[in-house]
Amino acid sequence: MIGFDFAGKTVLIVGGSSGIGNGTAHKFRNAGADVHVWGTRPTAANYADEEGSDLEGLHYACMNVSDFDAVDAYEAPFAKLDVLVLCQGTVRYRRAEFERQGWDEVMDVNVNSVMHISQKFKNNLADTKGSIIIVSSISGFRANIGNPAYAASKAAAVSLCKTLGAAWASDGIRVNGIAPGLVATKLTRVTTDNDRRREGAIARIPAGRLGTPDDMAGPILFLASPAASYVNGQTLMVDGGLALA
Ligand SMILES: NC(=O)c1ccc[n+]([C@@H]2O[C@H](COP(=O)([O-])OP(=O)(O)OC[C@H]3O[C@@H](n4cnc5c(N)ncnc54)[C@H](OP(=O)(O)O)[C@@H]3O)[C@@H](O)[C@H]2O)c1
Repeated sequence: MIGFDFAGKTVLIVGGSSGIGNGTAHKFRNAGADVHVWGTRPTAANYADEEGSDLEGLHYACMNVSDFDAVDAYEAPFAKLDVLVLCQGTVRYRRAEFERQGWDEVMDVNVNSVMHISQKFKNNLADTKGSIIIVSSISGFRANIGNPAYAASKAAAVSLCKTLGAAWASDGIRVNGIAPGLVATKLTRVTTDNDRRREGAIARIPAGRLGTPDDMAGPILFLASPAASYVNGQTLMVDGGLALA
């Protein structure tokens, strides 16, 4: 167990209702933080039967991050914010991202909302000298043949990390990110629930296994912690070496 201490800290995880964000939410909670998560379903109870969604002990709010006016109007139930994790993500299969609607939907969730939510909480984070963690993807560093919007949105997320990191450093805010490899979540079921595709993917991962939400959470806590106090604008690949292969 990595011994990070977030006692007394308030953390908001956008996309904390599921998968990597949910695993990260529990890691922050176990490290003492008060953790708020956003997801798309009306209440926490709506996730009761969903694998990879454990809302126990977390403060849940429903927010469609593509509704930028709703994000703007959001009145936070917390008095201060120390860490903002932007872990929302979506993808469209069957070449839908080559069409305008699919392209726009993915860009809105994966990059436009990342910018707008960062801006929304900038002053809160300046007050606490807090930090932002943006979850992008190794897809942001290479071609992703059937998913042009996913890849472009993740490249933009990597870029935002750098520019916001530089722009807001003088406000005391650090902006960093992780680029996951392949983790079995509801986003990747199309690959990870298919034996042939999953085994094919694992064969390309030097670590010889898929990543887990817990594997992603450790680097996120590190980047948000004082151990990373002089790290800014960086995206850390957390992929079992996949990008090396
Ligand atoms: N899994 C991987 O292999 C992998 C690899 C590289 C990068 N990533 C990135 O990791 C992040 C987390 O993904 P995941 O794999 O953990 O998938 P996931 O389990 O599907 O989680 C995605 C999260 O984003 C939320 N979300 C999606 N659209 C939203 C919207 N319009 N408004 C608000 N929230 C929205 C989902 O809310 P609901 O729970 O309500 O659906 C969920 O909390 C994403 O940015 C993804 O691109 C994942």
